[in-house]
Amino acid sequence: MEAMDDMLLANWVNLHSSIKVPSSYMQPPETRPGTLFISSGNTIPVIDLGGHHHHAETINQILKASQDYGFFQVINHGVCKDLMDDVMKVFKEFHSMPSKEKLNECSNGSCKLYTSGENHKRDAVHYWKDTLTHPCPPSSPQEYIKYWPNKPSNYRKVVGKYAEEVRKLGMKILEILCEGLGIRREYFLCGGLSENPSLVVHHYPPCPDPTLTLGLAKHRDPSIITILLQDKNVRGLQVLKDHEWFGVDPIPYAFVVNIGLLLQIISNGRLIGAEHRVVTNLRNARTSVAYFINPSNESIIEPAKDLFINGSTQKTMYKSMSYQEFRTNFFHKGPKIESELHN
Ligand code: OGA
Ligand code: NI
Repeated sequence: MEAMDDMLLANWVNLHSSIKVPSSYMQPPETRPGTLFISSGNTIPVIDLGGHHHHAETINQILKASQDYGFFQVINHGVCKDLMDDVMKVFKEFHSMPSKEKLNECSNGSCKLYTSGENHKRDAVHYWKDTLTHPCPPSSPQEYIKYWPNKPSNYRKVVGKYAEEVRKLGMKILEILCEGLGIRREYFLCGGLSENPSLVVHHYPPCPDPTLTLGLAKHRDPSIITILLQDKNVRGLQVLKDHEWFGVDPIPYAFVVNIGLLLQIISNGRLIGAEHRVVTNLRNARTSVAYFINPSNESIIEPAKDLFINGSTQKTMYKSMSYQEFRTNFFHKGPKIESELHN
């Protein structure tokens, strides 16, 4: 049997069709999804952005979902369906290429491609996925696109267009949230707060025993907001609410939107960066495309000052810090930093 460590998971699974879950991928009993991964029928709110609702109603729906769940799905969002199909196809094609070819496309330092987590060798338990990630800064796309993979041959064209469209949607949702919270609508256009987005493409191969593994551990996103395109037919994403896992069942051509930890801080805790995880699937591979809206390193993350004017009696719940400081802490200490964010 070919050594697993020398290959990306998708390629290893393809070569070994009748495998058992290797012990390095088995979750300890306390984090195993077990039978819990069968969706209990609970699901998150779906918001129609193109309907005939009054703007005020849309604001209320988005605000309520962001307060109650930290997650919602949007439909009629303005991103072209063909583009969504095309980008999914490009990423599926990418992940089905030979390991060497994929790694070769990601060898220039700007893109990363890895199995499990970024620190595969250091992970105590491995996660059942491969991940491709690269930055997509909106202000100078051409400078960065040349470092993206060039295979499949339409990668840069399709992904470039997609990043542009999804950014517009993300910025629109942030504007709506600002209106709902009583923050200046341009808040996220200032201070570099949305200047450093990245695309993260996960590929979860079919898994011989989904009760033993996880695709992605329980976590909160270290972003402002995340806009996720998931496979149309394969379930996997789950959100924790009131100690119960809610399945985020795929709706064709919808986007899943979730509040990141940074927006939880900026909103002074009014919006929640909810915990979520990904379970694996016995039969089907699942691909998901996350667009993280992230700040530049020097950006200051703090509860928005607009929340404390007009005689508000609210107290600031979180410390002010640079995004760089937040990131360094987050990646070294993981979820443990959450308690350190508070005043
Ligand atoms: C993430 C994430 C969900 C998914 O990348 O942070 O939560 O469905 N992804 O892959
Ligand atoms: Ni996430």
